[in-house]
Amino acid sequence: MKSINQSLKPITTKLNSSGNIEIGGCDLVDLAEKYNTPLYVIDEATVRGICQDYKKAFEKYHNVNMMYASKALCTKAIAKILHSEGFGFDTVSAGEIYTVYKAGVDMTKVLFNGNNKSYEELSLAIELGVGRISVDNFFELSLLNEIAKSYNKTVDILLRITPGIECHTHEYIQTGHLDSKFGFDLTQIDEAVELILNDYKNLKLHGLHAHIGSQIFETSIYGDEVEILTKEISRLDKKFGLKLNEINIGGGLGVKYNESDKPPATYEIADIIINKLNECIKKYSIDAPTLILEPGRSVISTSGVTLYTVGSSKQVPNGKKYIAVDGGMADNARPSMYGAEYVAEVANNTDHELIEKVTIAGRFCESGDILIKDITLPKLNEGDIICVYNTGAYNYSMASNYNRVQKPAMVLVNNSQSDIIINRETLDDIIAHDVIPDRL
Ligand code: LLP
Repeated sequence: MKSINQSLKPITTKLNSSGNIEIGGCDLVDLAEKYNTPLYVIDEATVRGICQDYKKAFEKYHNVNMMYASKALCTKAIAKILHSEGFGFDTVSAGEIYTVYKAGVDMTKVLFNGNNKSYEELSLAIELGVGRISVDNFFELSLLNEIAKSYNKTVDILLRITPGIECHTHEYIQTGHLDSKFGFDLTQIDEAVELILNDYKNLKLHGLHAHIGSQIFETSIYGDEVEILTKEISRLDKKFGLKLNEINIGGGLGVKYNESDKPPATYEIADIIINKLNECIKKYSIDAPTLILEPGRSVISTSGVTLYTVGSSKQVPNGKKYIAVDGGMADNARPSMYGAEYVAEVANNTDHELIEKVTIAGRFCESGDILIKDITLPKLNEGDIICVYNTGAYNYSMASNYNRVQKPAMVLVNNSQSDIIINRETLDDIIAHDVIPDRL
């Protein structure tokens, strides 16, 4: 069965009677006029649809906790939507924890990850009652135990381990390989467990956590991961009499950024994971653990598009034709950072005949600020609205104020209604944290 992460565009995308593209029943040209550009647009039906895909795909296993990896896109409204779909949250900073807390999320459904959580962040997590902390290293075990002791609390933890699985994705977004900065090496688990059982009395270990990488298209490596985690659980039971009942296999399912991307469906990975888990439960004689997943990109990417307005253009004699838009690497760092490829269309009424090969350049002062290289589009004019697809994940969350440009607004569309969920930054926002010392 197909799932929404396999689509290039939000599920409500269509051409309307004015010849413009609409999403969530909202004409993109109207949105650009009303809210200005660059503009992030999130289609609520697509977000809720993929949540349903995940829930249906995994309903064959009795005990699954879906934890949305909020690093992909973390705003109060997005948190509220995912919470209403029954998702918990994987968070990696005080900022993400605070955002979901302020959105009214049940904090017992929040997990705190990260390889260098600070004293203040761990304290906040304990104060707000975060459900699980995935401890990454020996330093953090000791630090967290001290903090938990000072609150006179027992903190529920997982151990993040490095399963030694290489996935074929961009080097910067691989995490499960042996030489990774994340997690305990397999050979360090026993020492960590001994410390928890004997010394760190304010920590209670519930299970193991791993994450192999992001934008993953391979399916079998999820089975390998389940095998490693369940085998470890069985080994720790035999060696320490320790009953661990949670495995967290992280996130990573890919999305379709362009025509050649073929991500698997949620249903496909669910079958592999659940079959392998059932097989390993028998093989290693362990109790069926709670299965935790942390998908980020696949939950939110497809629902998002970014609208830009075409400004200047330049034909290099005997070279490329550049079309410059009013955003770029500060609102979407992925092309310049990972060489990520995106697909775009002209949102306003044109004859939609693809006739011109152009390069869409950003407005930031750097030659590398190219959003899309060599894309064939209808003839473009100043004022045309460009819609770049699949920008829901890791666009706003990695946005910067490079060149002191204000970050764009974000609107949520559904049933012909549009609502602001992030206000456009103002010039005063840009200087809000600047201080001129009196002596100047
Ligand atoms: N869990 C852990 C522990 C993670 O480190 C990540 C992502 C996820 C879950 C969610 O992975 P997802 O389902 O989104 O693939 N900025 C990069 C992606 C970095 C991913 C980091 N970790 C990009 O734009 O491609």
